Amino acid sequence: MAVWAGAALSTLSPLHAVWLTLTAAFLLSLLLQLVPPSVLPSSALFQDLIRYGKTKSGGPPRPAVCRLFEVPKRYFSHFYIISVLWNGFLLWCLTQSLFLGAPFPHWLHTLLRILGAAQAQGGELALSAFLVLVFLWLHSWRRLFECLYVSVFSSSVMHVVQYCFGLAYYVLVGLTVLSQVPMDGRNVSVTGKDLSVQARWFHVLGMMMFIWSSAHQYKCHAILGNLRKNKAGAVIHCNHRIPFGDWFEYVSSPNYLAELMIYISMAVIFGFHNLTWWLVVTCVFFSQALSAFLSHRFYKSKFVSYPKHRKAYLPFLF
Ligand SMILES: NC(=O)c1ccc[n+]([C@@H]2O[C@H](COP(=O)([O-])OP(=O)(O)OC[C@H]3O[C@@H](n4cnc5c(N)ncnc54)[C@H](OP(=O)(O)O)[C@@H]3O)[C@@H](O)[C@H]2O)c1
Repeated sequence: MAVWAGAALSTLSPLHAVWLTLTAAFLLSLLLQLVPPSVLPSSALFQDLIRYGKTKSGGPPRPAVCRLFEVPKRYFSHFYIISVLWNGFLLWCLTQSLFLGAPFPHWLHTLLRILGAAQAQGGELALSAFLVLVFLWLHSWRRLFECLYVSVFSSSVMHVVQYCFGLAYYVLVGLTVLSQVPMDGRNVSVTGKDLSVQARWFHVLGMMMFIWSSAHQYKCHAILGNLRKNKAGAVIHCNHRIPFGDWFEYVSSPNYLAELMIYISMAVIFGFHNLTWWLVVTCVFFSQALSAFLSHRFYKSKFVSYPKHRKAYLPFLF
């Protein structure tokens, strides 16, 4: 056991440490939500840092000073603008290196090494990392489109810390993907000149899973958007209503479930064995579980007629 723990620690890169810390923070926050307030009274600052949007109203009374740190939740679109630009740039660097043999910029290579890229190369296929980066980029485009044209935001808010976290998050995710590319100095190392020889069955499976989860996430965001529109598509209010249809029949936050499935589809594209990516998936699992739990509680406290069979996040389970 001690030998195993020692070996695990010696391969722990800064990236692993970051994802593990974030995972632990979300898990702990979720566990603290399960403790009744009579046993452990919650601090207003803590609740302010974990709640955003509609669930902000469900926490303990917030001191007036909290309002100074509020940012409109519609700024979610900024996360995806950053992601489209940053991950588009990383994809461009990777494409140049894969197809034209151009080395990564010096600063990017150094940054990847600092994050532990050298430790990460356990025989990963360059094609897998390339496909994951392409899908991350497409995912960001779709989410940006949804924020701008599908979702109807109310005047709900988030904490400025959550906003900064959201901006940094997509920068980190992109770097995590790129750190998995097998490198030879500043160039991508590809066995065989033709990338297509690296194609595997799990790339196809992951791609199908990605499209399926993305389609459901889009559908769920459209259902939420339509709750605030009339038949002609005009926005008529900004209240929160009970959503029905698609995966909403099973869980309160199917968009969070779909997000998890999207990250799992990328783990499949990585061939199931990429530990770093599974850490990302675990982090997303707990961050979305926390938001889903708070949303479910919001719906149950606001609507007496809320469907009893509906779970928070995982159909039939949680
Ligand atoms: N990868 C990650 O770590 C991560 C982190 C956070 C979010 N995300 C993803 O980003 C997406 C959006 O997240 P979110 O937390 O903003 O989702 P959300 O709370 O479900 O909100 C999505 C949209 O629907 C509106 N809405 C929510 N509940 C509604 C209701 N009952 N009636 C009418 N409109 C309603 C919201 O408006 P208002 O809230 O303005 O009222 C917002 O415009 C999700 O798919 C999530 O998975 C990913």
